[in-house]
Amino acid sequence: MQLRSGRRLRPWQGAARRGRGGEDRLSALPDAVLLLVLARLGSTAEVARTSAVARRWRPLWTELDVLVFRRVDPDTLAGLLARARHPNLRRLEIQISRLDLPLLAWQMSSLLRAAEEHNPEELVFNVASRDYLGVPFQLPCFARATSINLRIWNRSFALPPAGSFARLERLALSLCCVDPGEFLPRCPRLRVLRMDCFWTQHAVDVHSASLQELVLNDMPQPDAAGDTTPRRVNIAAPMLREFKLQTFGDVEMMASFSAPAPMVETLSFRYFAIPCRAIGLPDSQLRVMDLATEMELRSRNGQLDPVRVRVLSMVVVFNASYEDASRSFAEEIAGLPVSNFSVFKLDIRSMWHDFGSVVFDSLKAVNSIQRLQLVLPQTMDRFWSPRRYFDYDPDDWTNNEDISFPNLEEMEVERFHLIDHDLDVLEMLFTIAPNLKTVRVQLPGWVSQSDPGYQQLCNILGENTSVECYINGRPLEECEE
Ligand SMILES: *[C@@H]1O[C@H](CO)[C@@H](O)[C@H](O)[C@H]1NC(C)=O
Ligand SMILES: *[C@@H]1O[C@H](CO)[C@@H](O)[C@H](O)[C@H]1NC(C)=O
Ligand SMILES: *[C@@H]1O[C@H](CO)[C@@H](O)[C@H](O)[C@H]1NC(C)=O
Ligand SMILES: *[C@@H]1O[C@H](CO)[C@@H](O)[C@H](O)[C@H]1NC(C)=O
Repeated sequence: MQLRSGRRLRPWQGAARRGRGGEDRLSALPDAVLLLVLARLGSTAEVARTSAVARRWRPLWTELDVLVFRRVDPDTLAGLLARARHPNLRRLEIQISRLDLPLLAWQMSSLLRAAEEHNPEELVFNVASRDYLGVPFQLPCFARATSINLRIWNRSFALPPAGSFARLERLALSLCCVDPGEFLPRCPRLRVLRMDCFWTQHAVDVHSASLQELVLNDMPQPDAAGDTTPRRVNIAAPMLREFKLQTFGDVEMMASFSAPAPMVETLSFRYFAIPCRAIGLPDSQLRVMDLATEMELRSRNGQLDPVRVRVLSMVVVFNASYEDASRSFAEEIAGLPVSNFSVFKLDIRSMWHDFGSVVFDSLKAVNSIQRLQLVLPQTMDRFWSPRRYFDYDPDDWTNNEDISFPNLEEMEVERFHLIDHDLDVLEMLFTIAPNLKTVRVQLPGWVSQSDPGYQQLCNILGENTSVECYINGRPLEECEE
């Protein structure tokens, strides 16, 4: 609603201004309905202001079971919390943004104590405010809470001396400096933990018998000052089904899983920040950016019913400025808490067709695969053919002849280039996969059949008549005509 003066008129003001009639009609509604109306307004501080306009509503907001205080100054907030009367809140949300003045630890502790008195089932406590003294505040024991979300910029807190977060199922800790090794033992029912790795130690333990979902975001450390020690998380969580690690940090980040290894279904490592990409091979400037597993329904050749199989996907990227890698592809895959992958998808993002060692090193760790899917580097056009630019040493991977992939039946290669490197890799793959049944090769659009490499490709594909081969979707027999 817009007033002629341009000031927005709020709905309740409309009711009040329409005169006694309007207010009476609203005020005649039962309390329960008015509470619903108030609850829909979203912000409790607004509701409290509204209530000052309509006298009939004044005490009513204090009965709400959902209280939302956003950008309210701490003193007003303390006053409002003291007036709220619902004994068991369904949800309490508090956001304080106060960058001008510090919010001291005792003020934080006192606000949290006031919040605890309302027994919220869901608590959101979001504070952007500094405390130059670095004193930890006290987190009370929210015994009734099933969900807690704390976002407290660069501050640490002390946990309650006794008691536990007995009903807590979901916990999000963002930007708080807290050791999960101290917090988790107090959360016997925790299922979901989302956490920014904002702890001050180099290594922490995430141990939980109940945890099913874990999301860790590694952040740059504000006070690290040149400390490049890798950071480690040791995870012991046998019930874990979903794990996600995202690193935006400036040092290497490693997650390891203790026995018994959880049967994780979805697993994802994303190395967003360039300095923390540490998985690769010596003499290669390809590094893992993304490593993920998931379950997929798949029908195998000759089977009617699809079965659930485990898929491993890896994206590697090139950067000339990458320095020494600390873990090889195979080591990293072997360290995952799950194995027995049926499908391996490898996506190589680079300007160079120099991927043989990545392919064969990572294959070492996935020897039960049935299907291999390669997405090779995209090069600009035929004139930029990588053949002109680089020499490679096939010795880098010919020592892999003894590995064998008896289950590998299907192979798909995208952006295959008709150059010695790619042809050699393909030939090698044929050698180590004796039971291949189908091979599909996709060439870049500009390639013509008169390219000398084209006949070499047809020869490799045609050598084993038992393998069904396709080039750009057409069966090999048609391609050779
Ligand atoms: C984080 O807090 C500490 C005090 O506990 C302070 O010395 C440091 O400067 C803060 N860092 C940032 C980035 O605000
Ligand atoms: C590995 O996965 C296949 C399905 O892709 C399954 O048939 C087989 O039993 C699994 N083996 C083990 C040891 O889990
Ligand atoms: C390669 O790394 C350098 C230095 O870390 C970075 O500035 C650059 O953006 C990176 N290049 C690409 C294509 O990611
Ligand atoms: C293709 O034939 C070669 C030579 O007989 C053999 O070594 C290789 O295992 C065969 N590969 C496939 C996929 O049939």
